[in-house]
Amino acid sequence: MTTTLLQKQLQMICQTWAAAIKTIGGREGRIAFFEAELPALLVNRPLFEGVLKGILSGSPYPDLRQETLFGNELILYLDPGRMFSLRLYLFGPGEHTSVHDHTSWGVFGSAFGKLEVVRYRREDDGTDPDQAQLSLSRRLVLRPGETETTLPFDQGIHRTGNPGDGTTLMVSVYGTPLRRLYIQRFNLENGRVHRVFPPRIKKRILAEQALTEIERSR
Ligand SMILES: [Fe+2]
Repeated sequence: MTTTLLQKQLQMICQTWAAAIKTIGGREGRIAFFEAELPALLVNRPLFEGVLKGILSGSPYPDLRQETLFGNELILYLDPGRMFSLRLYLFGPGEHTSVHDHTSWGVFGSAFGKLEVVRYRREDDGTDPDQAQLSLSRRLVLRPGETETTLPFDQGIHRTGNPGDGTTLMVSVYGTPLRRLYIQRFNLENGRVHRVFPPRIKKRILAEQALTEIERSR
């Protein structure tokens, strides 16, 4: 399959999803919709093989230059109405994300290999924006075709990754991002909370800060 055909196929699937979830108002309904729909996509191995070949052949789809918050993340589809996005994450042997939250709900699963999901509960009251006390609430390993869900902010703190020595492909659907511009990364050792902005926004923040300091130092 050419990558143009592949992109069209994924686009058609996502447009069908968009038409369906437009009629579902609430978050729970949309999550349930994707829990029902995502497994069929996860087991479509030729489609993900095509995506991987597209990456290696330098095809414009998927676009490797598109900005993402995680280094192993590829955007497969962004709904123009921002109702949802479809993303692929590649994990090498033993690789995991750091502990983090999201600004939206999500439904995700494995398209290849085992996918480890570790969930955390926030024990503090959140008054200190730079500190958080987390406790492990659940650890599970998904097999290809199985899915899990997540919720925005403190209700969905987790880390995901590859517990094995092969490769894991994780595919995620995220809902409309809520107002916050950054996700948070949590350091379990010292309780520190780091704000992670999209690279384009982070560069603007740093430039603004630098300019203010340079002007002040005159
Ligand atoms: Fe996540």
